[in-house]
Parts: sequence; C-alpha cells; structure tokens
Amino acid sequence: MDKDNVLILGIETSCDETSAAVVSNGRNVLSNIIASQIDLHKEYGGVVPEIASRKHVELILPVIDSALKKAEVTLKDIDAIAVTYGPGLVGALLVGVSAAKALAAALDKPLVSVHHIEGHIAANYITHAQVEPPFICLVASGGHSHIVYVKDYLNFEILGRTRDDAAGEAFDKIARVLDLGYPGGPVIDKKAKEGNPQAFHFPRVKFHDAPYDFSFSGLKTAVINHINHARQLKEEYSVEDICASFQQAVIDVLVDHTVLAAKDYKVKTICIAGGVAANSLLRDTMEKRASKKGIGVFYPTPVYCTDNAAMIAAAGYYSYLAGEFAEDTLNAVPSLPIGSNHKGCE
Ligand code: KG4
Ligand code: ZN
Repeated sequence: MDKDNVLILGIETSCDETSAAVVSNGRNVLSNIIASQIDLHKEYGGVVPEIASRKHVELILPVIDSALKKAEVTLKDIDAIAVTYGPGLVGALLVGVSAAKALAAALDKPLVSVHHIEGHIAANYITHAQVEPPFICLVASGGHSHIVYVKDYLNFEILGRTRDDAAGEAFDKIARVLDLGYPGGPVIDKKAKEGNPQAFHFPRVKFHDAPYDFSFSGLKTAVINHINHARQLKEEYSVEDICASFQQAVIDVLVDHTVLAAKDYKVKTICIAGGVAANSLLRDTMEKRASKKGIGVFYPTPVYCTDNAAMIAAAGYYSYLAGEFAEDTLNAVPSLPIGSNHKGCE
C-alpha cells in the first residue's frame, strides 16, 4: 500500500454507539458502520454503563467486519488502527481499546490513540475538504461543552468549558421532565420549531473572569421549576413554547461565547462539533452572527455529529502522519484531558 493512500481503521466505543470505519487519507470515508444502542437505553432515560459495555462486547467484531466489507478492503490493506481511549465510560472504552490492541498486535500494525473530543473536531475535516486549522471549535455533546482553539491538527487549547452540565445533557434532562423521551436534543429541536422562543425568559449565565465558560444547571433548574409550577397549579402549558424558549437560551450562550472567542483569537473560521452541532437553531444562529464579522462557519453532516468511528480515523490520521503511536500497554482513560497525548500541546 503506497503512502499516498493511508487507510485507517477507526474504532469508537466510548458511550452508546459501537462503531468502526475505514477512512482514506483522513478525509475520505470508505465505510462508517454505527450500531446504536439508543433503543436499549431509552427505557432508562439515559445510558446505563453496564448495559453499554456488554452490548459493545457483542457488537464490536461484527461491526469491524462490516466496516471492512463495506470499504471493500481486508485487514492487510489497513495502515493503522485508531481507537478512542478517552474520555468516556471506562467499561465501554475498554471494549474498543482491547479490540484495537489485539488487532494491532496480531497484524503488526501501528496503534493510534485518539481523544474523543479531537475526533468530534475532526468530523469537520470529513465534511469540508477546505477546513484547516487554525480555527475555533465549539464542541457540544451529551458529555461536553468546550470552546477549543485548534491551533494545528495536533495542537489544542481549551478556552472555555462547562462548569456543570453539558449542553446536550441539559437537552436530555428537559426532554425527560417533559416526557419527550431520550435523547432529548432532536425532539426539542423539532418541537421548538412550533413554539415561541420569546414566550419565557430563561437565564443565560456569563462569568466575567472566564468569558468562554458555560453553566447550564441554573437554566435547567429554572425550566424544571417553571414546568413543575404549572403542573402544581394544573395550568395548561405549551410544551412547544417551553422547548423554544429553553433552546433559545442554550443557543444564545453557545453562539455568544464562540463568536467572542473567534474575534479575540482573530480566526476566520468557526467549526461546530458533537451531537448538539446537529441543532438547527445553533447552525443558523452561528452562521448569521459569524458572517457579520466575516467569519465562516462549518459543521459536519448529521451522521458525523453524533458518535462515529470515521471521525476517530480522521483524527488518528494526523497522529499517524506525525509518527505518534500508542504503546501496546494502552489503557482506557475515562477523564482524559484534551491534547494530553500530543507533544506540542499546552
Ligand atoms: O456526541 P454525542 O453523540 O455523544 C456524546 O459524546 O455525548 O451527543 C449526544 C448528545 C445528546 O445529549 C443529544 O440530546 C444531543 O447530542 N443532540 C442534540 C441534537 N441532536 C443530538 N442536541 C440539540 N439538538 C439536536 N438536534
Ligand atoms: Zn461524543
């Protein structure tokens, strides 16, 4: 296999999707198989770690097999195996890490360890051939809300983070209180389209000493109190208006802080990543606000917003090019800090 066509097998099992993908040169997806466990976890209103690990064990080999078949390649053609090793649920991560280590050892191929958030960021490289660092990336998912300064493919600086709940977590909790099911983001996004975003004014938290940080727990409590109050008084309330007003409050702060970071750090590109990047109001508002400042906005197609292995292979490609390979003692790291696995990071 010549080096003009580097084929990476990506593996992702950090939460509730078992996924494997084959990606050529970090940007061209030959296959991306995702076995979602969402239906299994739905009845519990969130991910149950023990169930997730067991399901990953069952699915990992068939999913890898399907990814290779779909890409029409064999394990011999693969140049390296890239795997998410953190952050995430430790039992879930371990399934992917063990499979990747076993494959790398058996095939004598390099193993590349990938940070889950760096994977989400790299999802933008798949969808947009023109996206290159430096840029500011808003990573908003069920577990994270970060503003990251992507200085180079392997050089990241976290400018802001949530001090409590992640944005997606807030969507999931509000949906649960409104009996809208799990995950909450897509259904709230849909209901909000029928509601009035100005119906209620929910709090938007800012920290003067940390202008890019987020906090969503006060907003979550305000919305839950509002719903409980109406229920106690047996008042009619519009689910659509609550969804629209809640969503507007989340999106306002996500966009404000991201555009501010892009201005302060003088970048001309903003990327959005993570499950919440699929939110239609977030995409529209970010584009409107950024374009006024001459900043371009990019986000992955929906399938690459939520967890998938193609984004892990895409991120792993740049580590592969830099010769950053993992040891065969690689372990899962549930609370891995971003950038910690690269030499040039602060
Ligand atoms: O990135 P992801 O698949 O998993 C994590 O790494 O957490 O993100 C899942 C999160 C869930 O909280 C889900 O409610 C949220 O992304 N989400 C959305 C939308 N689609 C998914 N949030 C807001 N609007 C959406 N359209
Ligand atoms: Zn994720």
